[in-house]
Amino acid sequence: MKLKMMYSFLNSDINKIERALEETIQTESSLLQQASLHTLHAGGKRIRPVFVLLGGKFGQYDIENIKNVAVALELIHMASLVHDDVIDDAEIRRGKPTIKAKWDNRIAMYTGDYIFAKGMELMTNIENPIAHKILSKTIVELCIGEIEQIKDKYRFDQNLRDYLLRIKRKTALLIAASCQLGAVAAGADEKIHKMLYRFGYFVGMSYQITDDCLDFTGTEKELGKPAGGDLLQGNVTLPVLIAMKNNQIRSEIVKVHEGMTHTEIQKIITLIKDSGAIEESLAISNQYLDKALDILNELPNNRARKTLHDIALYIGKRKF
Ligand code: IPE
Ligand code: IPE
Ligand code: MG
Ligand code: MG
Ligand code: MG
Repeated sequence: MKLKMMYSFLNSDINKIERALEETIQTESSLLQQASLHTLHAGGKRIRPVFVLLGGKFGQYDIENIKNVAVALELIHMASLVHDDVIDDAEIRRGKPTIKAKWDNRIAMYTGDYIFAKGMELMTNIENPIAHKILSKTIVELCIGEIEQIKDKYRFDQNLRDYLLRIKRKTALLIAASCQLGAVAAGADEKIHKMLYRFGYFVGMSYQITDDCLDFTGTEKELGKPAGGDLLQGNVTLPVLIAMKNNQIRSEIVKVHEGMTHTEIQKIITLIKDSGAIEESLAISNQYLDKALDILNELPNNRARKTLHDIALYIGKRKF
């Protein structure tokens, strides 16, 4: 089943969110406007706002209220991508040139900040201070995760724990917060929103592991972003860590350095792909999904729960 089909019952609310995203980033600065709309219109799966809406279904669902959180979470995510493309030196995102490629790094810095601030502005409509605490903490962790990744580049002696902590910070916590904040904004019980947080955390871990595998196995056409860049950039992801358990492969991987030729890096990527490390990584991704599914069993049995279940299964099989 296609991702969009899974939450088709939310269609009219998703359309409201699309319109609100567009309205929110209107500004008198034509450059900020162009750059922000460029990223917005390029597409994206909008998985975080969908999680917000679904989380909201476990409380008093009022789209006019929940919409603020859903749009804010997508904007914060988008801002993090604009900045991520600066630090990853990425040319393509969502099938279109990145802001840093179409304009430059300076424009990308402030466009990211601008989109981020617009998200925060929307959040002021939410009175509950718990929501703001959760969100600020998440963004602090995201920054630490992205900075740690820069620090850990080409450091081949890192371990599984380093990797898992990094992806928790840079990806999983924002997805956890998306699931939780929808419920918080809808006034759901603490027990429920904490469960949704844990569900989102496990889904988010699985999501980034899949993303790291797709960097080895996907194509630019499927992903809307270039594949194969992580290792060359010294980003030590799960397939790399697993492949390094083999000493012969390890001795090749530790030679990876900036400016390696395409042929040299391709040889190492092939070694990793042939080692079974991708399959092993995907199995770990699936273990996280299983934990996410276990939590769902404890939540009230409603349509939102069924949809969260379907989305979790989709993530385990995602190809883009
Ligand atoms: C990309 O997120 C960054 C990761 C956390 C892997 P998405 O895969 O959700 O990107 P879009 O929003 O669909 O473009
Ligand atoms: C995404 O990590 C993390 C954040 C956006 C904070 P990646 O660098 O793997 O994301 P892609 O592959 O560029 O989407
Ligand atoms: Mg990155
Ligand atoms: Mg990136
Ligand atoms: Mg990636």
